[in-house]
Amino acid sequence: MPYAHDAVRAVVWREDALDLLDQRLLPAVERYRRLASVTEVAQAIRDMVVRGAPAIGIAAAYGVVLAARARYAEDPKRWRRTIGSDLAALAAARPTAVNLFWALRRMERAIDRSSGNPAVDLLSEARTIHEEDIAANRRMGQLGAALLGERGAVLTHCNTGSLATGGYGTALGVIREGYAAGLIERVYADETRPWLQGARLTAWELVRDGIPVTLLADGAAAALMREGRVRWTIVGADRVAANGDVANKIGTYHLAVAARYHGVRFMVVAPSSTVDMNLAGGADIPIEQRAAEELLTLGGQPIAAAGVDVWNPSFDVTPAALVDVLVTERGVVRAPDGEKMAWLMAEI
Ligand code: MRU
Repeated sequence: MPYAHDAVRAVVWREDALDLLDQRLLPAVERYRRLASVTEVAQAIRDMVVRGAPAIGIAAAYGVVLAARARYAEDPKRWRRTIGSDLAALAAARPTAVNLFWALRRMERAIDRSSGNPAVDLLSEARTIHEEDIAANRRMGQLGAALLGERGAVLTHCNTGSLATGGYGTALGVIREGYAAGLIERVYADETRPWLQGARLTAWELVRDGIPVTLLADGAAAALMREGRVRWTIVGADRVAANGDVANKIGTYHLAVAARYHGVRFMVVAPSSTVDMNLAGGADIPIEQRAAEELLTLGGQPIAAAGVDVWNPSFDVTPAALVDVLVTERGVVRAPDGEKMAWLMAEI
């Protein structure tokens, strides 16, 4: 059940199929797409019907349920082998958010454990992944809000809310909690070119939940900081490397640089499913390059000179040295580095 200031669920398993709120259409149209096959789920992740690191992982987990159901119906003896290509199709959908691969590994372990018809066991594992994500967000909300200090405004980037997760949100979860506790008076939301997650999604979530929000162009963030309007910049992550470097939506890195210069604190909020201890540093994180079209057009209209070349990385890497605090459901890490990350991620 959603909490106060958290009215939306973008990923919903209903009557044996997956309903995804189509995030390409927001804020103009609120429409769920019903997906009944793993191919449709992989396509929906690739096309950003669903997006945001934890939400991608959760959708993929439900995609595995659809795949197992179909493969088992096809051949109950060989389904464990034939499902391999479905897992590969999901894994190939987007490269940067490690939650996708983390969720697939969990579903693979559930496949290994399951006996008989897999539909029930795998659905139960996908639901657990989903519920654990919401619980992690609630916990991170409390841990992050406890760090905010005196009441003020905060800046955020991209969308890290209910739309990007199982529900409640990571950075937006801290913001929801901080607002409910009276510690946040206003949220400044970067529009987040080129896909406009801030303008289309974060502003939509916050307006809907009655949290005061001001939209700004990405290029206005440093000026906002210089005017002393924000005390914190709070963002999510798509992958955190073993040394604490953080991959997140393109534009995050320059926010971190500007925040350090202006004495604004920089908080990264991400569940442990976003941490990849197999990658030593941010340079190893695969960065998705997206279509030139995203920069050449806006709302279907051409906005750039015909024939221009385009560089469109969807994510950037913020060095750990610029992160004041990393908030996970396992705890808070101030000034993250390799040693602290190893301690955080050690098996409990
Ligand atoms: O390309 P997107 O919209 O999937 O990118 C999303 C982000 O970069 C988010 O900041 C990140 O996934 C954290 S969401 C809780």
